[in-house]
Formats: sequence, C-alpha cells, structure tokens
Amino acid sequence: MIGDSVPQGDNEAAAREVASGPVIHIRNLRKEYTSVAGVIPVLHGLNIEVMPSEFVAIMGASGSGKSTLMNILGCLDIATSGSYLLNGHDVAVLDRDTLAHLRNDLIGFVFQGFNLLPRASLLDNVALPLVYSKVSREEREARANEMLGKVGLAKYRDSQPNQISGGQQQRVAIARALVNRPQLLLADEPTGNLDSHTGNEIMNLFKELNERDGITIVLITHEVEVAAYAHRLVRLADGHIVYDGSSHEGAMSKNPTEYSAAVHSTS
Ligand SMILES: Nc1ncnc2c1ncn2[C@@H]1O[C@H](COP(=O)(O)OP(=O)(O)O)[C@@H](O)[C@H]1O
Ligand SMILES: [Mg+2]
Repeated sequence: MIGDSVPQGDNEAAAREVASGPVIHIRNLRKEYTSVAGVIPVLHGLNIEVMPSEFVAIMGASGSGKSTLMNILGCLDIATSGSYLLNGHDVAVLDRDTLAHLRNDLIGFVFQGFNLLPRASLLDNVALPLVYSKVSREEREARANEMLGKVGLAKYRDSQPNQISGGQQQRVAIARALVNRPQLLLADEPTGNLDSHTGNEIMNLFKELNERDGITIVLITHEVEVAAYAHRLVRLADGHIVYDGSSHEGAMSKNPTEYSAAVHSTS
C-alpha cells in the first residue's frame, strides 16, 4: 500500500493516497446563481464519475453550464447542493487552506486564452505555480525546463509570450499546468483560440499526456473534432447530462439537429 508510509497531515501524499478510486465523483450536483433578477438554476443535479487516466470531453451549446461545471470541478467555485469528492475528499468539508493545497497538488488548469504573464520569460511563466509550493528556486527552474521540453519549447525558455505563436503559447500554458505534476488536467476550450491545424497539435499533446503519463483529462469543447480525441463524451444541455458514453457514438448524435448545433455552436 502506497498509503502506509504517508505521514499524517501531509496533504499532497494524502491527496494521492486514494488514487485508485474515482478522481472526480459528483452526485446530484446543483448550481444556482443568485442575482438581482432572482435565482438562476444552471446545473440540475449532475452525476459524474471519472476514473484515473480517463480522457473525457464535455460538450454542449453556449450557456449549457460547461464552464460552471468546470469551475466547480476545479474547486474555483462551490456547488449549491450535492456532493463533490475530489480524489475521495469531500471538498465541502475542507477548510480553505486544505482545499487550496489539494487543488494545487492535484489539478492543472488550461484555459482558452492562455493567461500567460506577458513580461515574464516562458521559463518563469511555467515555474509560476511552484512559487506557492515549498520548492527551491533551482528545483523550480529544473522542473519548468523539463516541462518546456515536454511540450517541445525548451529552446524558447528565455523568450516572452509575444515572441511565439498562439499554439506555442498554449503549449507553454500546458507546461505550466503540468509543472506541479498534477493527476488531473482541466481544460476549458483549450483550442478555442487556435486554427484547426494548431488545435490538432494541441490535442495530440493532450492525447500523449493521457496515454503516456496517465494524466486524467477533462476538457470542454464545442468542436466534435476536438471531442473525438477523448474516449468519453459527456453532453450537457441546459444544465442536464443528455449523453454520457463513448465519444465516437456520442459525437454522431441520433438527432441530426443536435449534432449540427454541437458542430456550429460557439461558446
Ligand atoms: N456568475 C454568474 N452569475 C449569473 N449567471 C451566470 C454566472 N455565470 C454563468 N451564468 C449563467 O449560467 C449559464 C451557464 O453558463 P456557463 O457555465 O458559462 O455556460 P457555458 O460554459 O456552457 O457556455 C448561463 O446562462 C450563464 O449566463
Ligand atoms: Mg464556457
């Protein structure tokens, strides 16, 4: 048992301890936003279980609740009701610091707009998440270097984001997401700002990270071609799961209108 030697109170070790169960387990998850206009229900009781090394695409029209779900999965927001177990830990009962540690140790984020620091070198951009960990400067640089190598950009380590292409910037963002060696990568429309050729390159990188390194990936997209890289597809419509199964059958919906809407929607 890996867990036997884990010291008490070590968040990182504890977080990895139950890695044989689901990485993500949500049950009857609901989310409502409250605004001046009143209560807006957005997610209506979702149930999803994601096992280690799965590669899941989440699709749905604009406004169907994809980003809301992603923010909850990433512990950036909390559900109104229902439960979310992240690697076996009920996030609702964790205090803020423990949750922040768990998130930092377990999850890497990739967004549509790469969110890099414009005046920092690529190396410093990638090393940034480690500033919050107890890792020496040398180790930070070494790990950032290794991750830049993994995404094929080691030789640009001293460049700044505006000196490289959009696809390369997204690679840097992926390297940054990986630098903490997360078990789970969450990506919200990571190819949304890229042309289809560059998007395919990014998807091949995700595929490699999933197949070679066993990283669990949950990715939002509105493009069928992008979803086809995943093994499993979860389709959201108005905050309900309307499909959860193989990405190949699911992408070719029995309802041609729905298929067409999925292909052409922008979000
Ligand atoms: N902070 C918020 N306050 C109120 N409503 C919100 C908020 N964020 C999202 N919504 C609403 O929730 C619904 C789902 O949004 P979102 O999760 O961003 O959808 P998607 O990512 O699928 O396009 C939309 O109707 C949106 O207007
Ligand atoms: Mg969205």
